[in-house]
Amino acid sequence: MLIVGAGLGGLAIALELRRAGIDDFVILEKAADVGGVWRENTYPGAAVDVPSPYYSYAAEPNPEWPRRYSEQADILAYIHDVVDRHALRRHIVFETTVRSAAYDDATGRWHVETGDEKYDAQFFVPATGQLSIPLLPKIPGLDSFAGPAFHSAQWDHSVDLAGKTVAVIGTGASAIQIIPKIQPEVGQLLVLQRSAPYLLPRMDREYGPRQHRVFRKYPVVQRGERLFWWLFGEFWTFAVLGNPVVDRMFRATAAGMRALQIRDKTLRAKLTPDYPMGCKRVLFSSDYYPAVAAPNVRLETTGIDAITATGIRTVDGAEHAVDVLVYGTGFATQEFLDSIEIRGAGGELLSQRWADGARAYLGIAVPGFPNLLIMYGPNTNLGTGSIIYMLERQARYIRGLIEEMGRRGMATATVRADVEQGYDDDVQARLGKTAWASCVSWYQSKSGRISSNWPRNVLAYSRRTATVDLAEYEPA
Ligand SMILES: Cc1cc2nc3c(=O)[nH]c(=O)nc-3n(C[C@H](O)[C@H](O)[C@H](O)COP(=O)(O)OP(=O)(O)OC[C@H]3O[C@@H](n4cnc5c(N)ncnc54)[C@H](O)[C@@H]3O)c2cc1C
Ligand SMILES: NC(=O)c1ccc[n+]([C@@H]2O[C@H](COP(=O)([O-])OP(=O)(O)OC[C@H]3O[C@@H](n4cnc5c(N)ncnc54)[C@H](OP(=O)(O)O)[C@@H]3O)[C@@H](O)[C@H]2O)c1
Repeated sequence: MLIVGAGLGGLAIALELRRAGIDDFVILEKAADVGGVWRENTYPGAAVDVPSPYYSYAAEPNPEWPRRYSEQADILAYIHDVVDRHALRRHIVFETTVRSAAYDDATGRWHVETGDEKYDAQFFVPATGQLSIPLLPKIPGLDSFAGPAFHSAQWDHSVDLAGKTVAVIGTGASAIQIIPKIQPEVGQLLVLQRSAPYLLPRMDREYGPRQHRVFRKYPVVQRGERLFWWLFGEFWTFAVLGNPVVDRMFRATAAGMRALQIRDKTLRAKLTPDYPMGCKRVLFSSDYYPAVAAPNVRLETTGIDAITATGIRTVDGAEHAVDVLVYGTGFATQEFLDSIEIRGAGGELLSQRWADGARAYLGIAVPGFPNLLIMYGPNTNLGTGSIIYMLERQARYIRGLIEEMGRRGMATATVRADVEQGYDDDVQARLGKTAWASCVSWYQSKSGRISSNWPRNVLAYSRRTATVDLAEYEPA
């Protein structure tokens, strides 16, 4: 098996294979280290927004998490620890970018090219993530700014922000972590908000030495906390799926926090979202509003007209001079697997098949692309829970599928087109009734199709992927 990517997804399948006694796999990783987004995103304040006992592999609990919402360095250290304890590095070829992969009808195998090397495998498993390609906004004059400018995922640590006038464009998950961290350090901070995010309080806490001892001695205690956050995510999903009572509860909590933390009514009005809750990712932060209300911060909601050599011009003609520009403008999310030219049976291009939006059975299998098994594929992202939980379910399903094929003596399997069509109709019909259908967000393609998110709770996905039914597949 050939896996692409050594982030949490690629490593999840590696761990699953190793547990099943399967050692015959290679991971190709374009970077020089493991970790995926947790290697790349080193911006000030980078941390999880799903509590660590839940945002970790089920079979790899970490009693030493320093806090409930662990920071990037601790998550990366956790990933290193898992990789080292399971001796996974010997499976990984670093600094190797996969450029193309083609299914060979004659041999039933995948031929994979990296530029320098050619690989050949029975199964091809891309695990390249949904949030790994930084997106710069399409604003005129982007290249004309004379000072330092960088994306949140490409933080330039050589730039000293002390006393400077800094602009942050965007108020999504990355920006709301950056802003409270840099606010005390910078001279002036200009926050450019296009849409106000919904915020809920972040119930963070440190885990001290006593807690670590308890977690080590009684793992059931940490498993209990994991279960609590899993249940919290499942409960919250009801709001996104349209339950009016749960939705009201969370909206009231968000409004309460806004009222408590922002006393100035004009500023509070600017920070009040004007779309249904859950449509864009709901964020957890207890220090964002106080930071925005600080005297050295200005929240600008007038649209951006252009970037200039000295700063930003808004559409009202005002010029805002800044020393440093930070783009908290998100990622290219709809270009699933675009960086690899993938050809299935008969040479069909996956990018062409997905011209109207990416889709796959369980987010994993695509008709006409035998033995292509995708991790964190279309419609497997969550708004309310831990992606690691989903990745582990995908890994379990893929391992089950290849074992079942082995038992039946099947060398190739492609999901039946009618099975995938029925599945996709169901997913899209369900998505149409969720909060995600009620505004424009990174979850949607240009046509409005929601290609990112899973439309139910994670228990439903776990059940759906628990067993493999080979009758849903046919040989190539
Ligand atoms: C800043 C940030 C915070 C997040 N926080 C949370 C959170 O709190 N909770 C949550 O559930 N989710 C969170 N997410 C979502 C996160 O993407 C997933 O949780 C998870 O880390 C995805 O892992 P992955 O392995 O699928 O993808 P990635 O981590 O993106 O890893 C993909 C890997 O593939 C490699 N790769 C890509 N293309 C190629 C190629 N062509 N050839 C070779 N290698 C390639 C990349 O270098 C990378 O190492 C966050 C995302 C970001 C960006
Ligand atoms: N653990 C965490 O807490 C964490 C941290 C970071 C990222 N993440 C994950 O990564 C995802 C992406 O987060 P992100 O914050 O990097 O990106 P994002 O959620 O897509 O946010 C991008 C922000 O930039 C704004 N924007 C985009 N283009 C703009 C333009 N041309 N002019 C003005 N504003 C513009 C967006 O406004 P609009 O809303 O109006 O489009 C939005 O506020 C999250 O949803 C989450 O899944 C998680």
